[in-house]
Order: sequence, then structure tokens, then C-alpha cells
Amino acid sequence: MAKRGDFLSLADFSAQQLWGWLKLARDLKAEWRAGGNKPVLQGKTLGLLFQKPSLRTRVSFEMGMRHLGGDALYLSPNEIGLGGRESVADVARVLSRYVDGIMARVFSHAHVVELARYSTVPVINGLSDFTHPCQGLTDLFTVWEKVGRLEGVKLAYVGDGNNVATSLLFGGTKLGVHVSVGTPAGYEPSAAVLAQAQAFAAENGGRVSVTNDPLQAVADADVIYTDVWASMGQEAEKAARAAIFPPFQLNARLIAAAKPTVIAMHCLPAHRGEEITDEVADGPHSALFDQAENRMHAQKAILADLL
Ligand code: CP
Ligand code: NVA
Repeated sequence: MAKRGDFLSLADFSAQQLWGWLKLARDLKAEWRAGGNKPVLQGKTLGLLFQKPSLRTRVSFEMGMRHLGGDALYLSPNEIGLGGRESVADVARVLSRYVDGIMARVFSHAHVVELARYSTVPVINGLSDFTHPCQGLTDLFTVWEKVGRLEGVKLAYVGDGNNVATSLLFGGTKLGVHVSVGTPAGYEPSAAVLAQAQAFAAENGGRVSVTNDPLQAVADADVIYTDVWASMGQEAEKAARAAIFPPFQLNARLIAAAKPTVIAMHCLPAHRGEEITDEVADGPHSALFDQAENRMHAQKAILADLL
């Protein structure tokens, strides 16, 4: 169970809380651009616990803590041996004595839940096999910046119904977004995730639709989003997936089927030429690198609030 201060899944928060962070992210970004943030986290340290590689998550959390006057401590996959060298509960208990918050990137979502259960400091999910809430919050921030609103926006997610799709479904439906999912048959988000997102949509004015037709998924979309076809931990399925997913590639054909003002999104890292073409990633619709920058601003909002 998540305790107060934990940030494990966007499903755990109200629309009001999510909007609070989006507005704080906007303000912190403006403040940073105007010369620098106030040192509101002076004297605080965030532990960064990684079971998988990372560029954005590591650097955006490290820099975010620095911007806010705090410190971050990187702990590599080889050092901790979460659940191997030492139990997850003991890692949580020990780290809680040293740091003021723990950001963890794990394989199994159960591990980040267990860390939260046994730590006495806030735990932030920096990606699990189930969901990627820091990315989801960032992406909603980026859509809000670029489109000017979230309510009624059609965000088409094409590709694998994975952890990133789950965070967009949870966060989007809480804020009135129409999340349109297009995946190959058998690669949809789980029935449980879809049911939960439908319930959030019914409560908050969002919408969920699911199809196996990529063109139908992106028709009239304000945003088209994609991610890798095989996530970290699914390397053995890479070849099989590469044979199935090409119709879902984010390319000029999909862009042409959406609104003329459509923005193209990808959490990165991208496998260019697979799930996204260079033409789209580097083209006029691309929001990819603004998204990457915004990780830092959205996470600073979470850190300033929760630590
Ligand atoms: N988008 C994202 O989480 O990137 P990294 O895996 O590089 O952290
Ligand atoms: N779905 C991808 C996201 C990487 C940021 C993965 O889990 O590998």
C-alpha cells in the first residue's frame, strides 16, 4: 500500500492533485528559465535506485534536485541487488535512515510497492513493468503546454500496450483526455487497466477507446504517442514483436491521418526506423525533446511537494 508522499501510480491521485502538480511544474519551469529555482529542498537528498539503465530519469532527477537546492545519490543496478543481495524490505528500511526520499526504477512493480511499504520516506516510481507515472505526468504537462488544454484532447497511443500506455491511460482519463489506444491484437493494455481507466473516464469526463487499426486510432487526433515495441526486460521477444508491429509505426502516413496540428510524442529512448521514423522524430510535429526537458520540471513539482 502506498503511504502519504509515495508516487507509485497516477491511478492513486485525484484530478485536483494532478492539476496541482501540472501548475507547479509550469511555475517551476518559468522560474528556472527566468534565472533559477528557489532552494526549497536545501539539505534534502534523494536516493536514485536503478535496476535498469536510464538517461532521462537519472539526469532529470539529479538536475531537478540540484535546481531545488538538494542533492541526489545514484545507486546503480550492480550495487544494491534489490531482493537478491538484500531483501527489498531491508533496503527500504536502511535507505530510509540515510535519505529523504527514494526514486526507484524496478523490473517488478511489486518491488516498488514493497519499498514504499517498508520505507519511512516517500518512494517515487521511476518506471516499473506496470507503469511509468513520472513520464505520464510529464506527458500531460507537455500536451497542456502545446495544445493549451487537456479536456477533450484526443491522445492516440499506438504500439505496445505497455507501462507508458498505462500511465497515459490513468493520468489522461483523470483529466478529461480521450485516450485512443491502437495496438496489434494481443498487445492491448490489460483488461484490468482498461476497466480502471474507463472508471476514471466516467468520473472525470475522459474517454477510452481501443482498436487494432492504427489509422482508426489516430483519426482526428491532437496527439500521437508511441514507445518501443519491446520494453526493458522483454529483449527475448524483440524479433517476434518486430514482425508484428510495423503497421503501428509512427510515420508520415499516421501523421497525415490526424489533425494538421497534431503533435508527435515518444518517451524516448527511440528505436528510430522501428516504432518512429526520423522524419517524424525530427519533423515539425515532434515534441520529443520538449518532453525530455519537461521530465525535469514535472519531477521538480513532485519533489517540491512530496519531500
Ligand atoms: N523516458 C525515460 O524514462 O527514459 P530513460 O529510460 O532514459 O530514463
Ligand atoms: N516502455 C519502455 C519505456 C522506457 C522509458 C520500457 O519499459 O523499456
